Amino acid sequence: MSSPSSLSECLQEWEVMEKDYQQVQETHRLYKHKLEEVTKLQDSCSSAITRQRKKLKELAVSIKECRTKHPAQDLSSEERNVIRDIQDSIRGRPDIFLEMEAFLPKKNGLYLSLVLGNINVTLLNKHSKFAYKDEYEKFKLVLTVILFLFSFTCRFLLSYRALDALFNFLLVWYYCTLTIRESILISNGSRIKGWWVFHHYVSTFLSGVMLTWPEGALYQMFRSQFLTYCLYQIGFVQFLQYYYQSGCLYRLRALGERHNMDLTVEGFQSWMWRGLTFLLPFLFFGHFWQLYNSVILFKMAQLPECKEWQVAMCGCSYLTLFLGNFCTTLGVVYQKYITDKPKSL
Ligand code: COA
Repeated sequence: MSSPSSLSECLQEWEVMEKDYQQVQETHRLYKHKLEEVTKLQDSCSSAITRQRKKLKELAVSIKECRTKHPAQDLSSEERNVIRDIQDSIRGRPDIFLEMEAFLPKKNGLYLSLVLGNINVTLLNKHSKFAYKDEYEKFKLVLTVILFLFSFTCRFLLSYRALDALFNFLLVWYYCTLTIRESILISNGSRIKGWWVFHHYVSTFLSGVMLTWPEGALYQMFRSQFLTYCLYQIGFVQFLQYYYQSGCLYRLRALGERHNMDLTVEGFQSWMWRGLTFLLPFLFFGHFWQLYNSVILFKMAQLPECKEWQVAMCGCSYLTLFLGNFCTTLGVVYQKYITDKPKSL
């Protein structure tokens, strides 16, 4: 639309704008009113859930007491069935409440309160949750590429302690950022296992220790192995993980609700198992490389010339990473195997 050139056209334009402005004001008033209603509904949902949780706990205890007072043979079969049904429902409720709470504002845990303060991090619709998770995966991918190039440069092109320190500093920042993002994802209903978040705390610590390791014969002894490990684990394996995780994310989004997934959705199941069987050998190889790193570091710590505390500390960190990663990955695969009953393994 061309801009008004005469005074009368300006007046006409102003009238149109005035009407539009009234409309904007009305829409904004309605928006604020709805926001207040939403806030009230959120409060009443949250307190109803807290009340329900408390009462369910009390009821579960009362039913248990009644059952000890009245053994099964004293009850009619109808009463026994009713009690069984109630107990089944009580067992299922906590999961339902968790799903509900993923869409309700809640107080941040200790870590998020310390880092972000008491700001609400709950995203209130599925689209925003998906977008946030998608952005988290893309963030990891971008950093994977940067870290891969960085470690390649340090490993094969330039050997300066200052450059290594910059690389380790980037790793500290990256892992710290992941812990924050993952805590926000968990607040939004993500089922990331506690170990993977803890794994990033340990990795932050490990990179911090590597950062402070002074230049010397022992540092040079471990440097190549460390950088090659980074190339493999942070570059290559993380890229495969990205492919698998984002594939899951998009497919599950297409299928609908992740955690209420219909287990007969065989297309997803077979894709997931194909992805996992491809990924697992690389993951396990990485885990054993962590074990190998820790063994080498413990051996170095026993050398008479070893004065640096960083050697044993890095050894302990790698051992912790190996144990946690290996056991958790085995646990995840076993859990998937018994619940999903794969058909294409
Ligand atoms: N880091 C961050 N999030 C992870 C994760 C990891 N290592 N593993 C799983 N998750 C997330 C999933 O994206 C999913 O999130 P959602 O609830 O928001 O959708 C949730 O945790 C549950 O995932 P789950 O079904 O248990 O596993 P999966 O099929 O997504 O992945 C593995 C299974 C084995 C591939 C995955 O756990 C993995 O890559 N583990 C190995 C990691 C590793 O060893 N790293 C070595 C050091 S880098």
